[in-house]
Amino acid sequence: MTVYRNVVILTGAGISAESGLDTFRDKGGIWEKYDLMELATPEAFAQNPDLVHEFYNLRRAGVKKVDPNAAHYALARLEEKYSGEITVVTQNVDGLHERAGSKNMLHMHGELNKVRCGACGAVRFWSDDLSRASVCPCCGQAKHLRPHIVWFGEVPFHMDEIDGLLQQCDLFISIGTSGSVYPAAGFVQIATEYGAETVELNLVPSDGKNLFATGCYGRATEVVPDYIAELVRQDEM
Ligand code: APR
Repeated sequence: MTVYRNVVILTGAGISAESGLDTFRDKGGIWEKYDLMELATPEAFAQNPDLVHEFYNLRRAGVKKVDPNAAHYALARLEEKYSGEITVVTQNVDGLHERAGSKNMLHMHGELNKVRCGACGAVRFWSDDLSRASVCPCCGQAKHLRPHIVWFGEVPFHMDEIDGLLQQCDLFISIGTSGSVYPAAGFVQIATEYGAETVELNLVPSDGKNLFATGCYGRATEVVPDYIAELVRQDEM
């Protein structure tokens, strides 16, 4: 029977796939449909802000039409029932973890339902379309609001805090991520270096599969609830 004191769970687009949201690198994924260099870099936003706003407006509207799935709810249940500390570090920007009830969250790539003002730095919830004409609710200036999303070439959020969590955790779980984008793809190595157990829960073995001690493969809505149920069962023994 193993009970863990500090569990860090990294999630990627795969955990939201069965809610109906496209992943990035699977067949038919977002980066197969769109050119990330035109839509997900600071240079792209400077060059063509209207196109970038349109891309995120589409995604922000799309998230409103889907719901969390059994994998999201399983993580929220773990946080509620487990005796150890649970932290979800997500690469996802869709807000489905919070809607399923997860509270102890770090969004390392930002959030679709937030905007950031380039003039005053304010970050605010924003659920409607964004454009160059949108006015910052804090400083009242237009033309300076951008999606609160980390673009390629920008530094992910909360990295110092995440590093500390990885050094303290005794269980690191990676769910629904291809392990192809750093720094997230390197988290398993930090956790391993500091003695954590590591497990990958994914549809198929990811690029980083050999870095994990164990892996369970299949759809997140099946594999994640089963794995979490066993963690909770052992905790209650
Ligand atoms: N259940 C479990 N895993 C799934 C499912 C599913 N139903 N469907 C897909 N997957 C897995 C895929 O096998 C793949 O390994 O989810 C992973 C999705 O990988 P990516 O599309 O690369 O998404 P992600 O790893 O989150 O990308 C990381 O890259 O473009 C940036 O900012 C973007 O946060 C994103 C980052």
